[in-house]
Amino acid sequence: MNKLLYGDCLTIMRDMPLGSVDLIYLDPPFNSNRDYNAIYKDETGRQLPDQIEAFNDLWELSPERQQAIRMMPVLMRDYGIDDDIVEFWKIWMNALRNTQPRLLAYLSYMTERLLPMRGILKPTGSVFLHCDPTASHYIKVMMDGIFGHNNFRNEIIWCYTGPGSPGMRQFMRKHDVILWYNKGKTWTFNADDVRVAHSEKTKGNYKKGLVGSGFVEADHVIHEKGKVPEDWWQIAIAARGKEYMRYPTQKPLKLLDRIIRAASNKGETVFDPFCGCATTIEAAHTLGRKWIGIDIAIHAIKRVAKVRLEERLGLIEGKDFVIEGVPVTAEGALDLWNRDKHQFQKWAIEQVDGFVTNRKTADGGIDGRLYFSVPDKRDLQSMVIEVKGGKNVNVDVVRSLRGALERDQAEMAGLIVMDDLGDRKTKNFLREMGEAGDMDVNGVLYHRMQLLTVPEILAGKRFNTPSVARAKQLAQPALPMG
Ligand SMILES: C[S@@+](CC[C@H](N)C(=O)[O-])C[C@H]1O[C@@H](n2cnc3c(N)ncnc32)[C@H](O)[C@@H]1O
Repeated sequence: MNKLLYGDCLTIMRDMPLGSVDLIYLDPPFNSNRDYNAIYKDETGRQLPDQIEAFNDLWELSPERQQAIRMMPVLMRDYGIDDDIVEFWKIWMNALRNTQPRLLAYLSYMTERLLPMRGILKPTGSVFLHCDPTASHYIKVMMDGIFGHNNFRNEIIWCYTGPGSPGMRQFMRKHDVILWYNKGKTWTFNADDVRVAHSEKTKGNYKKGLVGSGFVEADHVIHEKGKVPEDWWQIAIAARGKEYMRYPTQKPLKLLDRIIRAASNKGETVFDPFCGCATTIEAAHTLGRKWIGIDIAIHAIKRVAKVRLEERLGLIEGKDFVIEGVPVTAEGALDLWNRDKHQFQKWAIEQVDGFVTNRKTADGGIDGRLYFSVPDKRDLQSMVIEVKGGKNVNVDVVRSLRGALERDQAEMAGLIVMDDLGDRKTKNFLREMGEAGDMDVNGVLYHRMQLLTVPEILAGKRFNTPSVARAKQLAQPALPMG
């Protein structure tokens, strides 16, 4: 069954069967060192002050990352990488530690994820890795080590056009790099499915009508179906047209269409471990391939990729594809909390139509916000949200949230906790919350502080606020590609 999986591709790939996919296309974060955020407007067209965190591409040598770097030689040997390559990694990493620590953090993150990819590819499979010139030269060295330099097929340059900024002191950077490696001695290349028309000049220069296996200069033969494209492709970015999902870094369907046609066959499985808004998935499905997509952002899986498959391809969740990893039970929520606390918070906030806040310093301990409008007020009002996934939540949480409510000059504050707190504790919490008073909207009273548990959220209960401003529309389509 076709699948959209929520989670870190590293964890998921470790459990995938060996030799199970025919083509991998990956378009990971590019080491761009910036936070990509979808910028949303509410239903009324007003821009929401905070934005949904799509994903971030910021790298640092945190203690965990340093530990991962130290363990990398062991991991590489586990995956069967040659000792010489492992030694090279060690020297290289030592050099980068002081010169480009962020790049080192990024490369180790990528290498951890590239290692399992080789195993899950079928012997005839290929991988296409999409990156950009900030790190492509380093990634290619790692790909040579993992997939073998003899298996390098192409460095495809995808070029596009777009605006620059005035006063630039260099040429505009308008290309990405796609590295193609195959796994074994044979690989799929469906030349006839990707041919493009010969130029008029070429046609004029050579005799027509002779159908050969391709362009054979000596015989003056050209192929009737056109030529195999060069390794540079000029394809417009996706920020136009019906396919545009307003997802930061969304890639054009045409790009994926060409890769999938060329390097896989009907009925085979295409896998995208960083699937974003499901461009690969749409292209694969349309071309009659099976597919698996993973993304670490629930927002990408549930609100963008799923919607794209339903609305553009008419697919039905449960019948044509499944979504796995997004909690639908209290146990699933607890499992998510244990696996990834940040993702659990995002999940809980998005369930109640809130937005993950990314102004962490200004907001202190606030995890998210929910916007609502009240009659006679032009600006959106907000509820600050705090999520507590742990078991031992005590009433101090309410006091600190109350502080945040006052500091933030929000109208309301909502607390989400994992479990039912039991009668006594719930009473204590509600008493403490009650001290914040009510908000009066035309005679209707709303408690300024409210409590929800995960089981309540799963059963459909929401914070009681005046009409919630849900994000419907993205305000600014033109975000950078990388
Ligand atoms: C450059 S975007 C991919 C865009 C995609 N090609 C498209 O056309 O929509 C990278 C994606 O990788 C996701 N991501 C980042 N780290 C991840 C990880 N460890 N596992 C799975 N997905 C991840 C991000 O949430 C983001 O959606």
